[in-house]
Amino acid sequence: MTAAANLDATGKGAPEPDVDHLNEIAARHLVQPWPMAGQIGDEARGLIQSGEGIYVIDEHGNRLIDGPAGMWCVNVGHRCKELAVVLYDQAMELSYNSPWYTMSARSVELAERLAAYAPGDMSHVFFTTGGSSAVESALRFMQFYNNVRGRPEKKLILSRGGAYHGSTYLSASLNGRPRERDWMDGADDLVIKLTCPNPFRRPEGVGRDAFADWLVAEFEDTIAKHGAERIGAFIGEPVMASGGVIVPPEGYLQRIAELCRKHDILFISDEVVTAFGRLGHVFASKEVFGIEPDIITFAKGVTSGYFPLGGMMVSARLFEELRQSNHPEAM
Ligand SMILES: Cc1ncc(COP(=O)(O)O)c(C=O)c1O
Repeated sequence: MTAAANLDATGKGAPEPDVDHLNEIAARHLVQPWPMAGQIGDEARGLIQSGEGIYVIDEHGNRLIDGPAGMWCVNVGHRCKELAVVLYDQAMELSYNSPWYTMSARSVELAERLAAYAPGDMSHVFFTTGGSSAVESALRFMQFYNNVRGRPEKKLILSRGGAYHGSTYLSASLNGRPRERDWMDGADDLVIKLTCPNPFRRPEGVGRDAFADWLVAEFEDTIAKHGAERIGAFIGEPVMASGGVIVPPEGYLQRIAELCRKHDILFISDEVVTAFGRLGHVFASKEVFGIEPDIITFAKGVTSGYFPLGGMMVSARLFEELRQSNHPEAM
């Protein structure tokens, strides 16, 4: 156990940090996200020393409310002893198991528990190390699923302006935030961007009540233009998080889900932020928005950020289709 275990609730008990020295080392060795290219290493970021419940304690001893809960992840709060003890016990029992040839009891137990909470017939879980790898896995599952079913041309992905789905190559290709799309390359030939469902920034001349109809019409036009036989998946956050905490218009997600079902397009609900209590339920897709997706991606709140874990849940229907495919190497 380290000195951190001896901190009191205010963060007192921690050794005084030499913030200037830390900043100097950070400038030389630590790559921090999203600097301006010409200012790399110039910026001194504040130091967070410790956390307690909903608070984090900074270098000056200020107790600050951790509004975004880290990066949408510390759902049960900082310094939760039960979680710390469980992590310690697990590390002492078995620190790693490769899922290729063997399994661990904990992953089986967690998969069963998640399946009990998930909507519809969502019964199978594939674990990953975070949200980006969960999204990446969901997309690669879609590609595999369509290859196995003899439809290798059905691979296009519908995403939306303002979306954030991750930082790996394919997941980042789905993102629709301006700076990222201006400066980073992506798999643009695989992704089609739809309009952001932000009710406060509608296309000109579209009234608030007509916005859902407009978005649904755009979706239908996109399918007509590119062909359902070429579109493999739609992916959306039930509530867009990093894009500005955007709640879509009433009924919009349900109508998109219906169109996806009609055109055999997989509906991937990216619940990396909205799951595990953030909207009051373990998963928000059905409870809050009335949709039963084909795939749900999750991460962050599943461990409250205490260690990296994510995953994707897949419906029993899709697994059954794979089983019946007769493909020699399928699953
Ligand atoms: C909706 C959504 N999906 C995926 C991700 C990527 O998750 P991670 O940062 O764990 O890779 C994020 C991260 O904020 C997210 O908000």
